[in-house]
Amino acid sequence: MALRAPTGTTDLLPEQAHAWNSIRTVALATFGLYGYQPIETPVFEQLEVFVRGIGDATDVVGKEMFLTFSQHAVEKIASGEKPSLADTLALRPEQTAGVARAIAQHNLVPPEAATLKLVYAGSMFRHERPQKGRLREFHQIGAECIGSAEPSADAEVIIMLMRFFESLGIPQDAMRLLINSMGDDDCRPAYREQVRAYILAHTTELCDECVRRADTNPLRSFDCKNPKCQEIMTDAPAITDALCPSCAAHYTTVKSLLDDAAITYVEQPCLVRGLDYYTRTVFEVQVVDGLGAQNAIGGGGRYDKLIAEFGGKPTPGLGFAVGFERIVLALQAAGAEGYALPHPQVYIAAVDASTRAMAFSLANRLRDVGIATELDHQSRSLKSQFKQAGRSGALFVVIVGPDEMARGVVTLRNMQSSEEQTVPLDDLVEKVSTTI
Ligand code: HAM
Repeated sequence: MALRAPTGTTDLLPEQAHAWNSIRTVALATFGLYGYQPIETPVFEQLEVFVRGIGDATDVVGKEMFLTFSQHAVEKIASGEKPSLADTLALRPEQTAGVARAIAQHNLVPPEAATLKLVYAGSMFRHERPQKGRLREFHQIGAECIGSAEPSADAEVIIMLMRFFESLGIPQDAMRLLINSMGDDDCRPAYREQVRAYILAHTTELCDECVRRADTNPLRSFDCKNPKCQEIMTDAPAITDALCPSCAAHYTTVKSLLDDAAITYVEQPCLVRGLDYYTRTVFEVQVVDGLGAQNAIGGGGRYDKLIAEFGGKPTPGLGFAVGFERIVLALQAAGAEGYALPHPQVYIAAVDASTRAMAFSLANRLRDVGIATELDHQSRSLKSQFKQAGRSGALFVVIVGPDEMARGVVTLRNMQSSEEQTVPLDDLVEKVSTTI
């Protein structure tokens, strides 16, 4: 049987791969305006990075990890021993934990350092049930702003995210920005207790998992996909009523800075996000129409405890990630133009075998000065080379014939106007460069 890509993965064929590169380029350019620098971390990490960073009571770590064992662990398992935690590796389900681990490991934010701003892009892996906009291998672009606890950092990150979506061509009115504050160590423990008590008072109406979560991670019940649970949790105590004065002031300033920047948002007290590292501000951008259940095109928040969790100095931070596959769906839903593959500017057609070497050499000369050039490598007839040239979208065709070659000239044909002119071989590069 012919082999296929694993369930929940997709091949990024040239058009999609080009869209991925283009969106990444827009991200780097947009985030560059705000001072972001690139970082790459491993695609797999010790499982412990995700358990400690994201939390084992989350769906992402508790249910959706792709685990793998080092050879050392395999040998241990084969000899009846248990592999150590350090031998257990996992494909990254997101990159914030890996970036925080790298920041702690390399002490990237020494005291007195300016805010460190990092951008990354790559594949993430979650063993979810695949559906439209939900894959097991998907692509994220993320940004992390490290070192500031100030609300202005939160507002800047959110503004940058919205500007990025707009510059991709997703209209403002096609998106909904949800925001919330999740409090901190001063106010969240008491709030968790309130939610736990609420869950325990509604055990007959909530699903078994929500009831189980009452003791492990009650706030996760806000994320339950069961419609009945969602309805019950709407009336649960709201975190915004339970924030301590400093969290409340932080949240108020974030909102007022967003107001000043004319960013429209919806306050969503139930927004807890599916990762346990968040403190204070959290946010999510949803597409209003066309994406069904998987309508979040990006999300993020603050994580002031995460870097210390990896042994680094306590360093506040926040960031977001956006999902490439969902952005493409959002662009389609908005009727935006896709990312057409670039086409050659020039096609060189060899009239017969005697002129192929010259055609080959001219193609190289044009490419060397930055002109995208294509030519035939299948010994096709002149007629089919013309067809290829037409299909390729080339603006010009250079026809290299034996008689012309003997005279030291070629024919340059403008594919739009069909106008042809004879150009000395030695002037071709100059002529094409100045005409294109
Ligand atoms: P997240 O909300 O889990 O956050 O993922 C961010 C985005 O990745 C989602 O909004 C969605 O567009 C996309 N995404 C997530 N899962 C899938 C999937 N299975 N298939 C397709 N797309 C998906 C994070 O990952 C955090 N690390 C964001 C962050 C950065 N928070 C702070 N800094």
